[in-house]
Amino acid sequence: MTYFTGKVAVVTGAGSGIGRALALELVQRGARVAISDVDAHGLAETEHQVAAAGGEVRADHLDVTERERVLAYAADLVAHFGAVHQIYNNAGIAFTGDIEAMDFKHLERVMDVDYWGVVNGTKAFLPHLIASGDGHVVNISSVFGIISVPTQGAYNAAKFAVRGFTEALRMEMVSRGRPVKVTCVHPGGIRTNVARNAGSVDSLDHDALATSFDRVARTTPRRAAEVILNGVEKGKARVLIGADARVIDLVARVAGPHYQRLVGRFAGKAGL
Ligand SMILES: NC(=O)c1ccc[n+]([C@@H]2O[C@H](COP(=O)([O-])OP(=O)(O)OC[C@H]3O[C@@H](n4cnc5c(N)ncnc54)[C@H](O)[C@@H]3O)[C@@H](O)[C@H]2O)c1
Repeated sequence: MTYFTGKVAVVTGAGSGIGRALALELVQRGARVAISDVDAHGLAETEHQVAAAGGEVRADHLDVTERERVLAYAADLVAHFGAVHQIYNNAGIAFTGDIEAMDFKHLERVMDVDYWGVVNGTKAFLPHLIASGDGHVVNISSVFGIISVPTQGAYNAAKFAVRGFTEALRMEMVSRGRPVKVTCVHPGGIRTNVARNAGSVDSLDHDALATSFDRVARTTPRRAAEVILNGVEKGKARVLIGADARVIDLVARVAGPHYQRLVGRFAGKAGL
């Protein structure tokens, strides 16, 4: 028996990377999973891998920005499985470029997926998680929800927002005596398609950005999923993934707002 045995866990953005690894790790720990994504091909591959691992899986095409669809999806899953216990709000996108060069539509799109997608998933599932008597909300922020860096203004804003929203929810669930735990996840660099799938302002070389991300992203998605579920099992408020995330968290706590001078200098040297 594990914390996950027999539970119904929902993973958004499960067609790739951390979401796919989470779905696989969840079934290995005894959960039944509902996976979704906007990428039909990636989703089908995850469904195949989860089924091959012997897991019970339901796969749906779902855009987390479509609030009415997310609300209907939550009700549908409860009808299908009888209950839903855990939601992993994982779907996300990145966008690189200076704020000065970014269009409003770029800032809005990242906020729509990375922040409002998390809000939609949390609000849609929360009543069902409470009704399950043993719920858990797991929201994926980033180390860039702990510190900001140049060229990630849109992503920083969305991931800081996820952290603020999630930490408030955790305190509310505790103080109102709700049977729902809440965990905010801050991955460092994880070797996924996030940089290849990311947008960027025209002046930047997209392929070069993706290649340099591949060089620094050291943690595998599988290891990320293990660390997330270990933290979820312990009911942790905050899960940091990778040595890079632990160093960044330490720098933010020790240096306070002075981290900006350190990061700004480093980013300048790295040509960011
Ligand atoms: N990889 C990293 O280094 C890293 C670091 C910190 C945080 N994160 C976060 O982890 C989460 C997972 O990212 P990943 O690294 O696995 O990237 P990924 O690009 O491999 O996977 C993200 C998935 O989300 C899906 N998606 C995008 N927009 C969607 C939408 N509107 N509705 C539903 N699904 C949508 C994509 O199709 C894709 O399958 C994201 O929230 C990301 O911001 C990643």
